[in-house]
Amino acid sequence: MNLVSNKPFAGLEGFVGEHVSLRAHTWYRIGGPARYFVTPRNTEELQEAVRRCNENSVPIYVLGLGANLLVQDSGVDGAVFRLSDEFWRRVSFDKTTVEVGAGVDMQKLLLRTCRQGLAGIECLAGIPGTVGGGVRMNAGGKFGDFGAVIHRVSVMDGEGNIFDRTKDDLVFEYRKTNIAARFILNATLELDEDDPEKIMKRTKEIWFYKRNTQPLNTKNCGCVFKNPRGLSAGALIDQARLKGMRVGNAEVSDKHANFIIAHPDCASDDVMKLIKLIKEKVFERNQIEMETEVQIWPFER
Ligand code: EPU
Repeated sequence: MNLVSNKPFAGLEGFVGEHVSLRAHTWYRIGGPARYFVTPRNTEELQEAVRRCNENSVPIYVLGLGANLLVQDSGVDGAVFRLSDEFWRRVSFDKTTVEVGAGVDMQKLLLRTCRQGLAGIECLAGIPGTVGGGVRMNAGGKFGDFGAVIHRVSVMDGEGNIFDRTKDDLVFEYRKTNIAARFILNATLELDEDDPEKIMKRTKEIWFYKRNTQPLNTKNCGCVFKNPRGLSAGALIDQARLKGMRVGNAEVSDKHANFIIAHPDCASDDVMKLIKLIKEKVFERNQIEMETEVQIWPFER
């Protein structure tokens, strides 16, 4: 009989922490701690930690830059993986093909491709996140999305098997993909040659649009709700006159109603209650069930 250790990650202390606050790892700067916090430095460490999770029934969570994430006050009773080591942040160029690690910051990638005269990801301007998070959510907005330039994604499933998904079987839809595997390890992008100045000009235009329409200098998690088909979540919340509505220290932004701002001392519970209230009010007025875009941890079971 296998005795399950009460220390699931014994011997892996070099890259596994316990009771780690997630606040500093989210843009919201709110929420409870992670029971385990795993920062593997290579593929073998990642596979070993995943194996331990499976053996000990520890749920797996994967964190990017925490920009599209609301961690509830209870924290996460599981293992939060973060592929932030330089091993996961490698970028290599081969003419118009770029291979990029899951831990790469999308804004840094955008700057580098721009300087190299490679166009195609200007639509990511002003969207905080890692390449892994960007692939998983098919990051983007009205100016395009990441999926359009992705030709191959290397992934690892919950059993530690690594394999490639290629363009012919990848589907990128509005804020989702058909990748079921637990971990995105890296992605290969196919970009277009263009004049760096022109790429920079387009990037700046997109960024200015965001700066003018979104409360960028506040603590927020980006758009809270998905746009219902053919409609704008922001406009619906605005029409329900919910701009400025507060629960505790969470407030619906006056600048863009699909953003919930966390003021000082805001609890995640304040945001959760405000999300519920917005859903109720929009349903009352328009009979539309709004769906959250922000990822909420712990997952509902
Ligand atoms: N609007 C209002 N009131 C508001 C907000 C918006 O009337 O409070 C109206 C605007 O005037 C506009 C329409 O709603 O006519 C759409 O608004 P906007 O142009 O700001 O775009 P959005 O659909 O709300 C989407 C993405 C954003 C992305 C922007 C720009 C979703 C849910 N949101 O916003 O993504 O930054 O386009 O590309 O898809 C995110 O993913 O976190 C995010 C913020």
